[in-house]
Parts: sequence; structure tokens; C-alpha cells
Amino acid sequence: MNQCIIWIKLLFKKCLSIIQYTKIRTNNTHYQMQQFNQVELNLDKDIDNNLKEEFKNENYETELVTNDFEIKVQTQKQQLIEKQEIIEVVPQTIDIKIIRQFIETTPTVDINNIEFLIELGNQSFQIYNSILYDYDGYEQLEDNQDEFSYWIKYIETPEKFQIHQMRYKYTLNTTISKYIAFMKDLEMQKKIDSSIDQYEQHFSNNQLQINYLRYKKILFMDPRDFFFIKYIKYIDENTLFEISKSIESDEFQPFTPSQKSTTRAYLQLSGNYIKQVEDNKLEIQTYSECNMKLKLKPVMTKTASKNEIKKLIKKYRDHFNQQ
Ligand SMILES: *[C@@H]1O[C@H](CO)[C@@H](O)[C@H](O)[C@H]1NC(C)=O
Ligand SMILES: *[C@@H]1O[C@H](CO)[C@@H](O)[C@H](O)[C@H]1NC(C)=O
Ligand SMILES: *[C@@H]1O[C@H](CO)[C@@H](O)[C@H](O)[C@H]1NC(C)=O
Repeated sequence: MNQCIIWIKLLFKKCLSIIQYTKIRTNNTHYQMQQFNQVELNLDKDIDNNLKEEFKNENYETELVTNDFEIKVQTQKQQLIEKQEIIEVVPQTIDIKIIRQFIETTPTVDINNIEFLIELGNQSFQIYNSILYDYDGYEQLEDNQDEFSYWIKYIETPEKFQIHQMRYKYTLNTTISKYIAFMKDLEMQKKIDSSIDQYEQHFSNNQLQINYLRYKKILFMDPRDFFFIKYIKYIDENTLFEISKSIESDEFQPFTPSQKSTTRAYLQLSGNYIKQVEDNKLEIQTYSECNMKLKLKPVMTKTASKNEIKKLIKKYRDHFNQQ
């Protein structure tokens, strides 16, 4: 789940760079790219400088469109990466319109109706499964270095929010049961990801969890929170799916409400396909699509998002390798 927000920290460092860049450029039209590289950022100071105002004032988006600072990564039309058979679960062909409609809808539910939520989880699983190998239009930013591969694609909502669609694959030295216990340990998750403010479980059985997750204010971005179900489906003892989807509910209140104004963000669909490939080795394939209610341009965010995911995975790895 964390993948949804973690890229933001790095991403805003990038925004800061761009503001600085904009300033230098305004000052000196014979601006050299080198100057940009030399700009030293002091994040804490910059936060104090009330970035919010800066962002309102700077026309940074225009700069972004005309200047691509990202390392040019060869765009590859990703075809089906590998046609692995999912044991017992044959990917279904579902109409793409139905898929998009399902993903983009956040259903309003009765959180006491567990049976219905399990059915919603099951539907989310079917949708996840049907797009698991669809890498069409994705840009690959990393390929199996350090057993990590990463692809990304963006879509824009009618409100101009930029939505990340991320796919990545990695391995962990652990077992499915240890992994499950680790992910269920919310205190541990808070320790691993310091940007988590609150992580609450409002229901849990072996198939379904109802979770509330809130992130701290990150630079100028107000706190974001998520309210979502996590559906767990075992295919066999070595194969597991974890699927998350945001829900809305009139009855829902966090145990610890936020003191600050918080923006509800949506985990439209996120899933992990987890396989025990060796005694102590998991292979994890993730798809994650979320609406953070942010309008930042993809050109700023893609490398940052990848690096943040990598950092988080490294923390997971360190955790399991220490055991
Ligand atoms: C930017 O403008 C200020 C004031 O006009 C000037 O003192 C400074 O030298 C300029 N910096 C550059 C890099 O041109
Ligand atoms: C999940 O959904 C599929 C397809 O709609 C259906 O065939 C299956 O029975 C459902 N499984 C459960 C456990 O509800
Ligand atoms: C798994 O453990 C092996 C042996 O200790 C180590 O070489 C490898 O880097 C580890 N891989 C991951 C992904 O942690």
C-alpha cells in the first residue's frame, strides 16, 4: 500500500530544485544547465520558507513542459513481459471499459456488511488478475538490476489529477507467513515508513481487512489519508494475492482523527502477486494505481517514484535479512 505515497518525498525535492531553477533562469537568461546541477537544496529551510506560497506564485508547470530534466530513458513499448501461468487462475478477458470503470469507481459501502466487502475484494482480484500482464504503453525505468524491475505509466483525470500506474517486481528473502505477519504488524509498518502518521485496522479476518492509513504532511502537501479494504486470496500454499481498494462509508471514523485538515486520497487498485519460489525467497509482482489528488506533471515524478519504491523495498529486505 505504501507505494502510493512514498514517491512524494523525493518528488518534492525535485519540485524545490525546479523552483530554484526557475529563479535562476529568471535572473539570467543565459542560464546553463550546470547551474541547476549545482543548486544545493536545504529542505528544512525551504519548508520554513513557506513553499505553498512559492508554488502558487511560480509558473513552474510551464517550465516543466519545456524542460525535461529526467534522464532520458529509452521508451520501450512493453509487450507482455512474460507469460507465466497463474496456477489455477486463468486470466480472464474482461472488457477494458469495464476494467477502467471498476478501477475508477470508489464504492460507498456498509462497512458492517463483510460479505459484500469480500465480494468487492473478489471482484478487485478478478480485475487485477486480468491486467497483470498488460504492460502496453508503460515506460520501463529499471530492468532487473538488484532483482528489481519497474515500469510506469500515467493517466490524467478530468480534474487534471495525475494518476500513477506503477508496476514493479522484486524478491524478498522470507516466507509467505512471515511476510503476512510483517505486513499485518502496523506498528512495524510505521517504524519502517516514517511518513506514516496513523495506521488503523478496523476489521480483520484471514480474507479481509478494513484499514485506515494516514500520512503526515510532506513539505507543502497536506496530510493524505486512505480508507480501503485489503483482500487476501491464497491460490495454494505457495501463491498469494493481496488486493487493496479504497472504499467510502458514511459511518466510518478513524479511531484517532487528524488534527490537521486531511485530503482523502484513493487507492483505486493495488495488488501484490506473491510467489514462494524457494524455501526462503518470495517473488512479488505489484500493480498500483492511486489518485493522490495531485496535479504534478509526470516528468517530475517518475524517477522519484521509482527511487522511493526502491528505498522502501530495501528496508523490507534489510528487515528480513536481519532475521
Ligand atoms: C541576479 O540578480 C541580482 C539582483 O538583480 C544580482 O545581484 C545577481 O548578481 C544576479 N544573479 C545572477 C546569477 O545573474
Ligand atoms: C469470485 O468471482 C468469480 C467471478 O465473478 C466467481 O466465479 C467466484 O465464485 C467468486 N468467488 C468468491 C469466493 O466469491
Ligand atoms: C537474500 O539472501 C542472500 C544470501 O544471504 C543474499 O545474497 C541476497 O542479497 C538476499 N536477497 C535479497 C533480495 O535480500
